[in-house]
Amino acid sequence: MLLFREKIPPDWLPKVLGDLPSVLIDHAHLERKAATPSINLEKYHDLFPRVDELNAIAIEELQHFQLVLRILKKRGIPFAQPQKSPWITGLMRSIRNGVRHQVIDHLICCSLIEGRSCEKFQLLAQALETIDPELSTFYASLVESEGNHYATYYLMAKDLDPIETQTRLSFYLDLEAELIRLPNRLAMLH
Ligand SMILES: [Fe+2]
Ligand SMILES: [Fe+2]
Repeated sequence: MLLFREKIPPDWLPKVLGDLPSVLIDHAHLERKAATPSINLEKYHDLFPRVDELNAIAIEELQHFQLVLRILKKRGIPFAQPQKSPWITGLMRSIRNGVRHQVIDHLICCSLIEGRSCEKFQLLAQALETIDPELSTFYASLVESEGNHYATYYLMAKDLDPIETQTRLSFYLDLEAELIRLPNRLAMLH
């Protein structure tokens, strides 16, 4: 179901493997930030019938956040300031105004962020198998959940307006392909 138009740049994996403590801090913030859009989406009238599902995502993301915090603690890595992700900012910046437009764009952005997380967690789980089995198991355990979030957000948009969703998905996939190619020297998930 993952439809991305660009591969993850080849330098991403060696960069993150080279600085796992920074990646774990970034990951903690990513999970924290993932809990907020699902709650923010509940303000849209169109999504009132989906409030329970959105709450379930928010709760799951907070649980993920807790799990990462626990790993940080166990490894003696102090929780620190988040780094800004030009990739996430670039996607979110393109959300249009206007209630229906905004909700569709917002859902697609969330879907793509979840989709890339799912893809990257899978890569990390494989790459860490021998280097850091504990972390490998942890990343593998998140893949299904992030994949479900990806699909849920996409299907919510499609249920509201299938034609608009296809048009905007195509726009966002092109934008995402551009953004993922931007160089980023920091060890971050996105
Ligand atoms: Fe998560
Ligand atoms: Fe998620």
